[in-house]
Amino acid sequence: MNKNKTLIAILGLGMSSGCISKATDPMQAILAKRHSGYAYDSSRPVSHEQIQQMVKAAQSAPSCYNDQPWFFIVCDRATQPDAYNKVLNALVEFNQQWAQSAPVLIVVAAGMNSREGGHNHWAQYDSGAAAVCMMLQATSLGLMAHQMAGFDPAKISASFELPADVMPMAVMAVGYEASETKVKARERKPQEQNFFAGSWGNGIR
Ligand SMILES: Cc1cc2nc3c(=O)[nH]c(=O)nc-3n(C[C@H](O)[C@H](O)[C@H](O)COP(=O)(O)O)c2cc1C
Repeated sequence: MNKNKTLIAILGLGMSSGCISKATDPMQAILAKRHSGYAYDSSRPVSHEQIQQMVKAAQSAPSCYNDQPWFFIVCDRATQPDAYNKVLNALVEFNQQWAQSAPVLIVVAAGMNSREGGHNHWAQYDSGAAAVCMMLQATSLGLMAHQMAGFDPAKISASFELPADVMPMAVMAVGYEASETKVKARERKPQEQNFFAGSWGNGIR
């Protein structure tokens, strides 16, 4: 493989239609690099400073009425082993198998009551936006963040004694990817299936 082809493979570029094709700016490079891999280097910790940067990135997300309805419980195996194990035990078996090598597991939750009182219809939307900001920051720091819905939310709510209106949405594994890992080709629907110009079904090409 020549140098250019190796770079394309590392960045995961040009893998299928609907994907970013060229890393011409820093954002494109981060988007191309972000992926949900399964092999973490369990010997490499995530630093407190890296966690702080990820928190700041999530905090910068936009939210409806600036309600900031997201909650993140960061559980570092090195410093909070009990909390880490609570999250690990709530994962479905498949996710436990690979996520146990990640040094950090983060519970992402949405506060379903708005600041004004009443249901916040956008709480999950906003919490997902904050989670993606966190993931992209993690990627920019050279880390891999992989979200999971395969967990028992009741277990998380009970073991962390979450308020009744706080809904666990996902668990995010964070750490350095094991260096020998091959990045899988990205699978995406053709863009015209999901992105329309001005009317339903009028796919952007
Ligand atoms: C809300 C959400 C839940 C997910 N749940 C799981 C999961 O339980 N287990 C898993 O291995 N991957 C899970 N994933 C990862 C997706 O499978 C992955 O994002 C998708 O295949 C696209 O791959 P990419 O992230 O590498 O682009 C989840 C992703 C999201 C956003």
